[in-house]
Amino acid sequence: MNIKITNETLENINAQAVIVFIVNKDFNHAWIKHKKALEAVNFKAESEEAVLLAEDGYIYVGCASLQPDELRIAAAKALKTLRQTSYKSVKIGSYIEKTKDNSMGALIEGFILGSYEFTKYKSKTEPFNLEELVISTDSYNQNTISLEELQNAKNNALIIANAANWAKEIINTAPYDYTPIQMAEDAQKLTSIDGVTCKIFDEKFLEKERMGAFLAVNRASIHPPRLIHLTYTPKEKSEKRVVFVGKGLTYDSGGLSLKPSDYMVSMKADKSGGAAAMAILKGAAELKLPFEIHAIIGATENMIGGNAYKPDDVLTAKNGKTIEVRNTDAEGRLVLADCLCYAQELKPDLLIDMATLTGACVVALGEYTTGVMGYNDKLKHELYRAAAQSGELVNNLSFNRYLKKLLKSNIADISNISSSRYGGAITAALFLDNFIEEPYKDKWLHLDIAGPAYVEKEWGYNQSGASGAGVRMNLYWLINQKGDQ
Ligand code: BES
Ligand code: ZN
Ligand code: ZN
Repeated sequence: MNIKITNETLENINAQAVIVFIVNKDFNHAWIKHKKALEAVNFKAESEEAVLLAEDGYIYVGCASLQPDELRIAAAKALKTLRQTSYKSVKIGSYIEKTKDNSMGALIEGFILGSYEFTKYKSKTEPFNLEELVISTDSYNQNTISLEELQNAKNNALIIANAANWAKEIINTAPYDYTPIQMAEDAQKLTSIDGVTCKIFDEKFLEKERMGAFLAVNRASIHPPRLIHLTYTPKEKSEKRVVFVGKGLTYDSGGLSLKPSDYMVSMKADKSGGAAAMAILKGAAELKLPFEIHAIIGATENMIGGNAYKPDDVLTAKNGKTIEVRNTDAEGRLVLADCLCYAQELKPDLLIDMATLTGACVVALGEYTTGVMGYNDKLKHELYRAAAQSGELVNNLSFNRYLKKLLKSNIADISNISSSRYGGAITAALFLDNFIEEPYKDKWLHLDIAGPAYVEKEWGYNQSGASGAGVRMNLYWLINQKGDQ
């Protein structure tokens, strides 16, 4: 689907169909030509409601307001309606409140995010006929925003939304097909983008680096582990080094502390943090952002077998700390512990890890919201702002000294699970905190994406399955950093 921006009026654009948003139930806008027909089919213009008037080639979509995320949702809804048609070209006017509010970007993101479909394993798929989408800028005040700025917004939106869709495809792929080696191959492919390099490390490197926690998780898998290290170096000298760390569990069976059958389904998505880290790097490189960016991914399966690591084992992480294993299903934090140690050797100015780390986070915040943890409130607020711009939902989960004590072990430096059943998202983050050195405490954020990473029903512009959680908010955050420099 080719998206074109033009300053032609909507009427003058040649296309087979037209999309009209009915904003805030206002049926009096000049673009609305079928008031009576809409009334007749009982169309209320509620948010997420769409109707196709095929005879005249009109798609009307309800849109609650002109907030960017409402535009994304309406755009995705329009696209879904278009799927059932044979139209090759469609046009839309633009919807703007304030000229600088990125409504153009949001509109385009909505179309791209809404266009994603996971069809890899379907023997038959419905063809998608739409080739061209033309957006008229006629309603923009050209004195306050230039066509060039709008083209730029389009370019950013395409990169951001395609990065999220790219992550979705990785996450949705079955664990038989998507192994740590496959993940490393996909990372390697990103080196075709200007400024991107990739280092792949195998189990020999992990042994040499004494990453005993990461290695233990991998032990019962027939697939060897990979530590993936992607780097994007901008052309101009960079002021900031940002390191993303991602949990890349290509499958989490729970290990010997085996998951019940119902909870094991969808654990192919336990690689979502790793996929997000790779997708952010891809997006940042395509956006040519002026920062040095790294993505570190710990890729492995967590399986069972005679050589599996066990509850009662004591592991030694890269930083020398010993860990008593009391539950092999708390494996993500073990892999991340070693990866975070590795990441700090890069001396990051900012360190962000992303992981589908705990079911407790989903219980706490619901399945649509990412849990944000860390010590630096300023950093958190920057992220909340970026998340709001991107449409991703986030919420804060605060540390406290009492929860920290629950990770004590009688026989090792720390236990891999809390002694209490409550506050599991926070105690998991506090486990990671043991692997963050003092100078980096204030530079670190932990994002628990266990809820939104994979939801088995449609929500907003997200399809059932992977959503690419973490990708868009972090790209918005990086773009904002550029402005704040
Ligand atoms: N990958 C899971 C967390 C998860 C749960 C992700 C639901 C997505 C949806 C993680 O490895 C895990 O199993 N965590 C345990 C920790 C517990 C043993 C302390 C959990 O949340 O139950
Ligand atoms: Zn687990
Ligand atoms: Zn897991």
